[in-house]
Amino acid sequence: MSEQSRRPHRPAKPYRRPQKDPVRILAFDALRAVDERDAYANLVLPPLLRKARENGDFDARDAALATELVYGTLRRQGTYDAIIAACVDRPLREVDPPVLDVLSLGAHQLLGTRIPTHAAVSASVELARVVLGDGRAKFVNAVLRKVARDDLDGWLEKVAPPYDEDPEDHLAVVHSHPRWVVSALWDSLGGGRAGIEDLLAADNERPEVTLVARPGRSTAEELLNEEAAVAGRWSPYAVRLAEGGEPGAVEAVREGRAGVQDEGSQLVALALANAPLDGPDEKWLDGCAGPGGKAALLGALAAERGAFLLASEKQPHRAGLVARALDGNPGPYQVIAADGTRPPWQPGTFDRVLVDVPCTGLGALRRRPEARWRRRPDDLDSFAPLQRALLRTALDSVRVGGVVGYATCSPHLAETRAVVSDVLKERPHTELIDARPLLPGVPDLGDGPDIQLWPHIHGTDAMYLALIRRTA
Ligand SMILES: C[S@@+](CC[C@H](N)C(=O)[O-])C[C@H]1O[C@@H](n2cnc3c(N)ncnc32)[C@H](O)[C@@H]1O
Repeated sequence: MSEQSRRPHRPAKPYRRPQKDPVRILAFDALRAVDERDAYANLVLPPLLRKARENGDFDARDAALATELVYGTLRRQGTYDAIIAACVDRPLREVDPPVLDVLSLGAHQLLGTRIPTHAAVSASVELARVVLGDGRAKFVNAVLRKVARDDLDGWLEKVAPPYDEDPEDHLAVVHSHPRWVVSALWDSLGGGRAGIEDLLAADNERPEVTLVARPGRSTAEELLNEEAAVAGRWSPYAVRLAEGGEPGAVEAVREGRAGVQDEGSQLVALALANAPLDGPDEKWLDGCAGPGGKAALLGALAAERGAFLLASEKQPHRAGLVARALDGNPGPYQVIAADGTRPPWQPGTFDRVLVDVPCTGLGALRRRPEARWRRRPDDLDSFAPLQRALLRTALDSVRVGGVVGYATCSPHLAETRAVVSDVLKERPHTELIDARPLLPGVPDLGDGPDIQLWPHIHGTDAMYLALIRRTA
């Protein structure tokens, strides 16, 4: 009898069709779009979810899980990459991006959710069978079994360099931010380890949905009648929705009398509106208005005083969004598409001017989970001239005695204080106004006279505002 015929006969495993799990497939599709087409998760996900609901594939819980898988995986990608790298025998750049997406989704389920280990692994292997094929599913299975051998804390001890050896690298791996971003945020925040750790952790939390009751059109009391709505922390117009709260279900939002707006943005508009002026208060300008969140609040505040708002935005389609946001504003306003560095209006026209300039958005990382991985330090250089030019024309646009608000949704010092100090050096007839007393009750706004908000302190985006008066 030959060797072969003596071996016990092992029947081949019967082929089993891969189990299609619509939630994981949708999460994978969203990650691929973000990776491959540079899509934004917050834009790519809603239509995918809508389609899945229309097809009858999804209920609300499925939608919540898919959202958590996509956002959580993207936010924590830096940490998961470090862990996955320790579980594969080649550099991560040699792993095919779709395979890496399945591995990252699996790592998030294993280390960042309460999904039981066996369910996380088997769901990921089934996903791999559907989207990658059986061969690569085996690889996914082997890697995720290694990932599953420890919990997140255990892994971080192994893969993050010790804090004392390299604090920024340690924080970058533990809190999943690029090292240059950790460094920039820390420079701006100052202080010791506790503060920066709280900030980085806050960037990894899902932000609450905050509404603004546009004055004269709705009230915070009206919005508080909504189920599970609670008052804002700082702005009298803010109302926060509990988890899962749908702004689209709120009548005042549907009618444009209220909107979705982070409380930090509300505070920027309020501080500018509250700044003391010498002389008339009749003409306001928002020079970088798109998509119109601050313009809509400024328009409503201006209307209460009988003032006119000009909302200007360079990109015509974004000017269209501004027009939509201001539609129904109770006072006079106009929306135009114009380049704020070559404005069509006369110098010295306005009493109050806001320039909420284009920036890296490093203050809104909670909202844009992939942004931290896309941004590069070079981006600062490309925004720098435009930020200075927009501030210069804002100062030209305001009359003597009037006030300019320079705002960013980034706390990076190169986009905040450096811009203001460079431009004011060229402009002797200007003075910084202390913005802190204009937001009574809001603590820890910094050393002044400008203000810096923080997610971990104020629960807002990290908005910056400097108020500048033209004195002669
Ligand atoms: C940070 S966003 C403003 C956000 C807005 N204030 C809000 O609250 O909805 C900056 C805006 O400036 C616009 N922008 C860029 N360059 C500009 C320019 N040269 N003149 C006017 N607007 C410009 C961008 O298209 C973008 O819509």
